[in-house]
Amino acid sequence: MSGQVEVPREVEDGPATTRLDRLGRPLRDVRISVTDRCNFRCTYCMPRASFGPGHAFLPRSATMTAGEIVRLGSVLLRLGVGKIRLTGGEPLLRGDLDEIVAGLSAAGVSDLALTTNGSLLSRWAMRLRSAGLHRLTVSLDTLDPGVHARLSDSGVPLATVLGGIDAALAAGFAPVKLNAVIRRGVNQASILPLADYARRGGHTLRLIEYMDVGESNAWNQAEVVPAAEMLATVAARYPLEPAPRRDPADVAQRYRFQDGGGEIGIIASVTQPFCGACTRLRVSADGRLHTCLFSGTGTDLLSALRSGDDDDLEQLLTRVWGVRADRYSEERGQPHGELRRIEMSYIGG
Ligand code: GTP
Ligand code: 5AD
Ligand code: SF4
Ligand code: SF4
Repeated sequence: MSGQVEVPREVEDGPATTRLDRLGRPLRDVRISVTDRCNFRCTYCMPRASFGPGHAFLPRSATMTAGEIVRLGSVLLRLGVGKIRLTGGEPLLRGDLDEIVAGLSAAGVSDLALTTNGSLLSRWAMRLRSAGLHRLTVSLDTLDPGVHARLSDSGVPLATVLGGIDAALAAGFAPVKLNAVIRRGVNQASILPLADYARRGGHTLRLIEYMDVGESNAWNQAEVVPAAEMLATVAARYPLEPAPRRDPADVAQRYRFQDGGGEIGIIASVTQPFCGACTRLRVSADGRLHTCLFSGTGTDLLSALRSGDDDDLEQLLTRVWGVRADRYSEERGQPHGELRRIEMSYIGG
C-alpha cells in the first residue's frame, strides 16, 4: 500500500520483542473489548438513530467468555505484550468483569487498565481494585449537567459519574485519567471547567480530537477542535510546558501546568497522527483481531480460542501482526476503496 513499506521483518522464531509488523512496529499494547453494549448513547459514538432497539448487538454465545479472555491474555504475554486495556462498549455492564480482571492480573499482565463511562463505578471501583486492576480511565466530556444529558443521551445524571470518579479515588486508583472528546459547537466551552476539575481532584485530563471513526456519527471535519486550539485555550488560563512522552507509543502529548497543578494530555489523532509508533492490537468482544482502529472486518480468533491450543493462538496472532501495514490516520483523506469503518463501541475505545 504505501511506498514506505519495507521488507517484512517479523522473525517468527526470535524473542517476542522481535515480532514486528511490516512497518517495523512491535506488538506491545492490546485493547480487549469485553462487550459491544453500553448504557450511554453518546452522540459521537453510539447515536440512538443507529443504536436503537433495532440494532443487532452481539449474542452472548458469540462473545468471549471470561475464561477465553484470560487465556488470550496469557498468550499475549508470551508474545511480549505488556499492556492490556479492557474497553467496550461499557465494560462494567459485564457481571463477570472482576473475574476477567483477576484472571489477567494473576496471569502477570504488568499494566492492566480499563476505560469506563463511570456510571456504575461507585459500585465497582473497590471490586476492581481488589481484583488487581492497575489503572482507570473515565470518559468525561463536560461538567455541565444539561450538556452531559444531551451528549450521553442517557438517564444517568452527571453527578453519578462524578460520584464514580470519587469512588475510584477512594479505592486507590489515583490519578484517574479523564478522557474528553471535544467538539466544536457541542462541548468546547467545557475545556476550562474540565481542566479546573481535574486540577482540583488530582486527575489527568486528556483532551481528544473528534475522530472519523465508525459510520454512524456523521463525522464532520468542522466539528474537530484541533489540538493546538485546545492547548491554547488551557494555556491562556494556566501556562503550560511540554513534558516528554513516557513511551514513544503513547497517544497523548503531555504538558505540565507551570504552577505545579499536575499535567494534561492532548490526543491529536486527526491533526498530528501517530501511526508510526502504533503498537496496538484490538480484539472485539466477539474475538476478532483488528490491527487498526479503522480496519475493516478483522480476523477471527474466537474459533481458534474455542478449538485450538495456545500454540495455534500464538501462531495466528503472530501471522496477523506480521502482515500489518495499517496507518489510517496518516493516510486520512486518501481513497480507501470499499473500506467500511467499524464502530468504536464494537472495536473498543
Ligand atoms: P494509556 O496510555 O494506557 O493510559 O491510555 P492511552 O493514552 O492509550 O489512552 P486511551 O486508551 O484512553 O485512548 C484515548 C483516546 O485516544 C481514545 O479514546 C481514542 O480517541 C484515541 N486513541 C487511542 N488509541 C488510538 C489509536 O490506536 N489510534 C487512534 N487514531 N486513536 C487512538
Ligand atoms: N473520536 C474520538 N474518541 C472517541 N471515542 C469514542 N468515539 C470517539 C470519536 N469519534 C473514545 C472516547 C471515549 C472512549 C470510550 O472512546 O475517548 O472516552
Ligand atoms: Fe458508551 Fe463510551 Fe461510546 Fe459513550 S463513548 S456510547 S460511554 S462506549
Ligand atoms: Fe494505530 Fe490505526 Fe490509530 Fe494509526 S489509525 S494510530 S495505525 S490504530
